[in-house]
Amino acid sequence: MPSADNRFTRRFGLLTPIAAAPMAFASGGELAAAGAKAGALGMVGGAYGDRDWTAREYTSAVKLLSDDEAAVARLGCGFITWRMEQDRSALDWLLDQDHTPAAIMLSFGDPTEVAKPITVRGIPLICQIQTIAQLPQAVEAGACVIVAQGGEAGGHGMNALDGRSTFTLVPEVADWLAAHAPDVQLLAAGGIADGRGLAAALMLGADGALVGSRLWASEESLATAAAIDTAIAADGDGSARSKVFDILREKDWPAEYDFRALRNAIHREGEERIADLEADPAAAIADYKAGVATGDFTRAHVTVGEGTGLIRSSASAGEIIRTIDAEARRLLGEA
Ligand SMILES: Cc1cc2nc3c(=O)[nH]c(=O)nc-3n(C[C@H](O)[C@H](O)[C@H](O)COP(=O)(O)O)c2cc1C
Repeated sequence: MPSADNRFTRRFGLLTPIAAAPMAFASGGELAAAGAKAGALGMVGGAYGDRDWTAREYTSAVKLLSDDEAAVARLGCGFITWRMEQDRSALDWLLDQDHTPAAIMLSFGDPTEVAKPITVRGIPLICQIQTIAQLPQAVEAGACVIVAQGGEAGGHGMNALDGRSTFTLVPEVADWLAAHAPDVQLLAAGGIADGRGLAAALMLGADGALVGSRLWASEESLATAAAIDTAIAADGDGSARSKVFDILREKDWPAEYDFRALRNAIHREGEERIADLEADPAAAIADYKAGVATGDFTRAHVTVGEGTGLIRSSASAGEIIRTIDAEARRLLGEA
């Protein structure tokens, strides 16, 4: 039987085998600090690498944890790999700080080059992958933790043609790591929103779980209360993966990745005509922007994954993490 106290919690000084995902526009300093305070690995969502934003939010997290040495040692940051290839200033800023991050996570793209300044400093590197094909490259880049992300996940992930589900990807990655890189640890991501999910992740061979959507809907998240209420009202059928919101947000993502969010009216209008939308997006972008400006979630995006159907209320990040941990331990017979 796997245990919730394991090599992942020991390696990072955690009280629970949970990492709070680095989520663009959601995981600011407050959420990352709350995650670390609750005993998880707390990650600031450095995302697209806005240097000023990253500096502000990371500094605020360090400050919020300044009276708690154990918690501040659980603070890390995540970036989008392909964006770092274009502009590394936020990562460089982070690497210059007195506070050494507990880990730096890279997602979406070949980590080989971007990882070098991280691993050369001995900072633990976490790489998020979506397919078996990406695994050897991440291990060779120096990852000490692999996040296997299934298509259920909120936000960006592998498109439907190439993507995998968490339930099969995690044990397959676990087997590969056991055979080729047994010291590299594994987190499951995608659809883990309660203790059942965490216990299942451990049973599938992961050392822990990276939780995104469930913590996106926390009191410390930068998501608005209205967006969180919209997600709470949705069930798990209500999200979809496509390029619609990347086109509407004018984000230039590599072709293999797309984006899961609630499948609202503007999504349904765009999903059947992606090529047209790409060719002539102006009217739809204006419509989308009007939705964002007025908080109209039939047109603005709500970034949650299939786990939205398991989110029934908002709560503090600490309460969410403690509840997931306690339920998983009960299921594992560790209560
Ligand atoms: C709102 C939101 C923003 C995200 N932004 C990022 C990001 O900037 N970088 C990243 O590596 N992953 C990002 N992700 C994906 C998470 O790292 C993680 O894989 C995912 O949330 C796990 O699935 P779940 O949402 O079902 O928990 C984001 C996810 C969400 C929900």
